[in-house]
Amino acid sequence: MTIEHKPPEHPHPALSEPAEQLASAAGSVAVRRPASAEVPQHFSSVDAAYGTPFSPMDQVQQERFDEMVPLANRSVAVERSPDGGERIIGGQVRIDSALSLPGGASVPVAALSGVGVEPGAHGRGAFRALIREHLREARARGDAGSVLMASLTPLYGRFGYGPATETANWEIDAPAAALQVGAPTQGPVFVEHARGARLHEVLDAVWRAVGTARAGTLERAEAWWRVVLAPEETWLGGGKLMVARHGTAPGYVLYTVDGEHGRQGLAEADIRIRELVAADPAVELDLWRFIAGLPWGRTIRWHYAPVDPAALFWLRDPRQLRRMSHFDFLWLRPLDMPRLTAQRRFAADGRVTLEVTDPVFGDLAGRFALQVRNGSGTWAVADGPADLALSIADLGAMWLGGGSSRQLRAVGRIGGDAAAAHRLDAMLACDGPPRAVARF
Ligand SMILES: CC(C)(COP(=O)(O)OP(=O)(O)OC[C@H]1O[C@@H](n2cnc3c(N)ncnc32)[C@H](O)[C@@H]1OP(=O)(O)O)[C@@H](O)C(=O)NCCC(=O)NCCS
Repeated sequence: MTIEHKPPEHPHPALSEPAEQLASAAGSVAVRRPASAEVPQHFSSVDAAYGTPFSPMDQVQQERFDEMVPLANRSVAVERSPDGGERIIGGQVRIDSALSLPGGASVPVAALSGVGVEPGAHGRGAFRALIREHLREARARGDAGSVLMASLTPLYGRFGYGPATETANWEIDAPAAALQVGAPTQGPVFVEHARGARLHEVLDAVWRAVGTARAGTLERAEAWWRVVLAPEETWLGGGKLMVARHGTAPGYVLYTVDGEHGRQGLAEADIRIRELVAADPAVELDLWRFIAGLPWGRTIRWHYAPVDPAALFWLRDPRQLRRMSHFDFLWLRPLDMPRLTAQRRFAADGRVTLEVTDPVFGDLAGRFALQVRNGSGTWAVADGPADLALSIADLGAMWLGGGSSRQLRAVGRIGGDAAAAHRLDAMLACDGPPRAVARF
């Protein structure tokens, strides 16, 4: 079934309060908007948090980034001295996006990125103040949730984030990348020659189809695509990217080829799959075949890839596909459970009563009934005893279909009735684990 991909509907599109109104004192630390003159201090401070020397972007790069993340989407943590002076000690940015849910509909989410507090200023609550301000703002804007990628896993559970998707880094020697005879196919793959806005359009159409097929896809605005396909390589994408596209169905691959003349003058290339996305496993296999068939291939690396690539099930020798690491990827912090419920499709009907705790927003905690009829759900305040007791972070971890309440109950994170955990799993089940491809 195809559900139309809806753009974010932010009820408060222009968050234009002056900085003073955003300042939330936390001891001597406050969070506010940076002024445009403070951009270098903001990024220098966050770079210092990650141990990277700050180097300013050139003008074109800066404009590209500013369009994707305008000043109004940035916050800095400042330390205030008794004489009224201020020093920027950290910051964060918010990307306005939408997240696809099981069934294909999307809900507006605030994607939190670039959170850092410089060394020397740690332990004074700056991080806590930044995240709380982000969550307050996201809720005020009407976002259904906040999402992030965690560089440190112990940080975010305390704010109600749960790990909702996983990712893996795969590597294979190119000669071992052949698929079995008879592996599904949908048709040919072509090199895509379009550039600029036309290319963004082509890739975005695929991206939207992929989002409706699997939960976990973040909508990319045109400004985000410009960064993903920029000539310079950054964490968000870019570089010397080659593009190939499926000829008959939604799917594309972004890749780089790093070639050299190796031993005895033989041409050899390390191929990096930067993004391989397809709405259908057969299309994914066609894109894999294209990559495996590139000339001179020595190694193929696919990092931040799905944990269940279709190739794993169709390689002639699946063990050759080495899983170099496997870790949490997209964390989801639910902010609007009624909306997250209404927009999601469920695999089974039923009713579960949940006692939900929330470490940040007392009004989101309480006893709720999740009721599903004909695959559609409602979330409402409930009376009577609860079947299961869990935190909002556990709901975030399970909502895209990637977690298991039975498992969380077995390890003691969720309390309550085994039959109810079984029921909840059946309701939330999906055909495969959710996939989040976009790094941010
Ligand atoms: C992680 C980081 C943001 C913490 O900043 P900070 O201002 O020192 O944190 P705070 O003083 O606000 O502490 C908030 C809470 O996080 C905890 N915390 C801080 N660093 C932690 C760490 N490395 N591991 C586990 N918990 C940590 C604190 O103990 C505190 O817990 P409490 O609420 O129970 O008291 C900072 O060390 C940093 O910038 N690190 C490098 C960049 C990074 O990893 N950013 C995270 C992006 S995903």
